[in-house]
Amino acid sequence: MKHRLLTLPLALLLACSAERPVTSTSRAFEGSLASPLPQAAAPRLARYAMVVSAHPEASRIGTQILQRGGNAYDAAVAMQFALAVALPAAGNIGGGGFLLYRDRNGSAGALDFRETAPAGASRDMYLDKQGNLIDNLSTAGPLAVGTPGTVAGMATLHKQLGKLSWATLVQPAVTLATRGVALTAKEAAGLNRTRADFQKYNPGSPPAYLRPGGGEWQPGDTLHLPELARTLARIRDQGRAGFYQGETARLLLAAMKAGGGLVAQKDLDGYQAKWREPLRGRYRDYDVITMPPPSAGGVALLQMLQMLEPVDLAQAGYHTPLAVHYIAEAERRAYADRASYLGDPDFGTVPVQKLLDTDYNRQRAASFRSRGRATASSAVAAGAGLPGYESSETTHYSIIDAFGNAVSCTTTLNGGYGSKVVVPGAGFLLNNEMDDFSAKAGAPNAYGLTGGKANAIAPGKRMLSSMTPTILTHNGKVALVTGTPGGSTIITSVLQSILGVVDYGLNAQQVVTAPRLHHQWLPDQLDVEAGALLPAAQDTLRAHGYPINPRLPWGRLDIIHVRPDGVLEAGADPRGDDTALGY
Ligand code: DON
Repeated sequence: MKHRLLTLPLALLLACSAERPVTSTSRAFEGSLASPLPQAAAPRLARYAMVVSAHPEASRIGTQILQRGGNAYDAAVAMQFALAVALPAAGNIGGGGFLLYRDRNGSAGALDFRETAPAGASRDMYLDKQGNLIDNLSTAGPLAVGTPGTVAGMATLHKQLGKLSWATLVQPAVTLATRGVALTAKEAAGLNRTRADFQKYNPGSPPAYLRPGGGEWQPGDTLHLPELARTLARIRDQGRAGFYQGETARLLLAAMKAGGGLVAQKDLDGYQAKWREPLRGRYRDYDVITMPPPSAGGVALLQMLQMLEPVDLAQAGYHTPLAVHYIAEAERRAYADRASYLGDPDFGTVPVQKLLDTDYNRQRAASFRSRGRATASSAVAAGAGLPGYESSETTHYSIIDAFGNAVSCTTTLNGGYGSKVVVPGAGFLLNNEMDDFSAKAGAPNAYGLTGGKANAIAPGKRMLSSMTPTILTHNGKVALVTGTPGGSTIITSVLQSILGVVDYGLNAQQVVTAPRLHHQWLPDQLDVEAGALLPAAQDTLRAHGYPINPRLPWGRLDIIHVRPDGVLEAGADPRGDDTALGY
């Protein structure tokens, strides 16, 4: 198949072209109505190495580690801890995440440091006697907290792949927390929005995230985090034990006890980060490496790519009603499967192979390729005949080092500032990841996602995720490192980043800046960011059965595209404080 990286003028030409293959489907969506290609700042370019993250301090620290001879895995460890200081909404040591790598020799691995349900958790723990969900119980406060995985994940990564000493990688975060971080306007606003919750969920001890002396944080104020600095120093000196044992564990367990949370010492002792085999697929001329369960992200992404492969998106045009029809229908079907089949593979059989079977996905795609309008979500159940399952804040960073190793990592507390519980004396925020389980079969979680048995709560089980760290290679070389936060929208944003590069020939900054679209089966609506579709295109889509839901911007895509000439081209999402740095 010919190389699909289009030059920009060619992509423009195609986007505006009226010459599309005429099928009943394309006839139904007649008229060009392509959105203009996204206007964006010039992407950052680098020759040897690049990092992109959600905070300038984390990107600065990551680049310094690379310049000191560290590899991409070293930079990931340093950036993870730096984000725990500089980006309290999502960077974390009290949460978890997924890291995907592809090394210079072509081998790849997926590190799962997802939180687990504490041993004391049970299927119906968030339901009242009538079987109804109790408001906020799974989303805030101590009972929402899963056993954190981040420090175990970083220790595991460093042990296997790191080059510089552990202390060298953790120290920059200790320094940052000790000196304090200058608040950006966005972080100040986030902390101010959360003030009442910080007060509510930390009754005994006002956390450092409340402005000393009261009042609102201003951009440029310094956030001092001395307790967090001491916790990070223990992690620097003792590694994993500096978090899961000793003083930090004691303080964490005291917070659990005081607030009725479930995480116990045996959960901390038993927590294991796990290496998993990445999922692999192919899209046009690219090999796709992505995250396996317990994330739903990789499976759904590869399903959507398989459904879209036979469609000529470039020819359908950029964000035309026809292209949107194809993309939204693929999304609808993948999310329907997610709800039924996906969960923690250590607790039941997840039919990954079946879901990634080309014939299965092509068959599913046939039902929209020949159809000139939306399929109602009520008419799209999970695909038949598969074996059943028995048994907004997150952050992403992308790294390529000068040795040719690539890292894509998405890490989270789940909601902004997680459970809002800050461990007294230890200064870090705890996650509210328990809400990613299906607390009640069929009832939507904070992201509107539904599920059932496959994602029911059980002690020690990992809650299903949408996080989709992904790496594409082309002719055996890394071509794209991509990922984003955004809850249920993560998978469709990662999809759009791939389509932007592969089908539409956008540069990395255009890809991340481009206004986005999202469909997740339920609710049956097309989410549209301002500027994503021409008004006339929206009218056409509405007329063909797509309820349009205008939505505030979402996601923070941070990507690195390796251009055919070898230059590293980064896109840092302008929706946040995201920053690309390289050399
Ligand atoms: O693992 C997941 O899918 C969610 N906990 C991610 C949450 C998220 O991305 C929030 N960000 N805006």
